[in-house]
Amino acid sequence: LSAYDLVIRNGRVGAAHGSFDADVAIAGETIAAVGRGLPPGAREIEARGLLVLPGGVDAHCHIEQVSAGGLLNADTFETATAAAAKGGTTTVISFAAQHVGLRMDEVLADYAARARRGAMVDYAFHLMVSDPTPECLGEHLPAAIRAGHRSIKAFLTYDRIKLDDEQFLDLLLVAREHGALVCVHAENHGMIRWMSRRLVEAGHVAPRFHGASHPRLAEVEAFERVAAMSALVDAPVMIFHVSTAEGAAAIRRARGAGVKLLAETCPQYLFMSVDDLDRPGMEGARFMCSPPQREAADQAALWRALELGDLQTVTSDHAPYRLDETGKFSGGPNASFKDIANGLPGLEQRLPLLFDAMVSGGGPGLDAFVALTATNPAAIYGLPTKGAIAPGKDADVALWDPGKRHVFSDANVTDGTGYTPYAGREVTGMPVLVLRRGEPIVEGGDLRAAPGSGRWLPREVSPAMRPSGRPSPDMALAARFGATL
Ligand code: URP
Ligand code: ZN
Ligand code: ZN
Repeated sequence: LSAYDLVIRNGRVGAAHGSFDADVAIAGETIAAVGRGLPPGAREIEARGLLVLPGGVDAHCHIEQVSAGGLLNADTFETATAAAAKGGTTTVISFAAQHVGLRMDEVLADYAARARRGAMVDYAFHLMVSDPTPECLGEHLPAAIRAGHRSIKAFLTYDRIKLDDEQFLDLLLVAREHGALVCVHAENHGMIRWMSRRLVEAGHVAPRFHGASHPRLAEVEAFERVAAMSALVDAPVMIFHVSTAEGAAAIRRARGAGVKLLAETCPQYLFMSVDDLDRPGMEGARFMCSPPQREAADQAALWRALELGDLQTVTSDHAPYRLDETGKFSGGPNASFKDIANGLPGLEQRLPLLFDAMVSGGGPGLDAFVALTATNPAAIYGLPTKGAIAPGKDADVALWDPGKRHVFSDANVTDGTGYTPYAGREVTGMPVLVLRRGEPIVEGGDLRAAPGSGRWLPREVSPAMRPSGRPSPDMALAARFGATL
């Protein structure tokens, strides 16, 4: 009897710190051995010419979620995780989204029940806080964090869900005390409202004006404010979806000064520009997300920031809305840009787009692709069994054919939106077999997973979540006079 259920033979194993040729043996749900000439398995796959990569970890996806505008988005856990699997992603972190007036514990139970029913890949939740009541801060969040929900999400813009600075500081303290990472959508709310009002008053309401309504400075100002608050509390912060060169530079400065900031960007900021919003009629709505896409120079700056390590992950920020009255056009077919739902679908396309640019296109290469899309997010978010091909890890393995070409089109999307903003774009390199904990969930492009077969992942306190250990002088001053804060 073989010790291994499956041996994937002669592939090139992708790893963040040096890819190599090896066999990969799987026993049950776990990677049992990685090496050359491994003994036979009960099943064998010949992978010569293929890449054996860890399943992707997408740490920023809005799934079956109620948006800032009160809309339930276009995906169920079933449709979103099917899309993830088809694109080579085997772990997602989505949101348990508390809106004002709701209890965090009840919200979490609701999202957990939905995921249990539908998820086909493994999953975790960011605790999205919009109503940080004393009960939420003192009881519900600490209990959820202790149970293994080790990240919190805050918005500093969007009318109905934004937190003010004082509330954000409260969240940082809760995260610091209980061992969690605060993630933030950081833009200056006043600047966005002011710009939007002036644009609308002047009659500039087409989708193309969405870009102008989110000034670049709104991002920079908010990043710098977040860095200052992170330093005051000495609590690390993950800055979501960096879109500008100046934003990336602000993060680099703060990190250089010892502030424990982490940051991500998304394919829409690496592959699209503000020109994508500039389409006839309402077509720009297909491309509307926040922050908006910027300029070619920003794309170059973001690639550079990824290379330098200022940004550590690339997530999809999958935020799916259909191009109809249930989604993008819930405010009417000719709504002002202010009333068009923000967000793009991208769970399925994230990895192929990045593979095409980073590996096939001769960019930063396979090691960096694996690091940014799987290994780094697993490490940052406290998922020790995910993100790498190594003995003891979950057997989340995607076999990639580096030469397989694929053209994105609205007709071949798996998620619930019915469209992709990447329609017409050709990529080289696609996953051809995806295993989740050893079980094939995509084979030859066909989905094999059962709804509800994905598992919730309780998370650990990761090194990224720990305070830097350099308390701010302001906090130290208070302590000098005997105050405990
Ligand atoms: O436009 C976007 N990204 N919508 C989703 C919500 C968010 O901002 O993360
Ligand atoms: Zn956001
Ligand atoms: Zn988002």
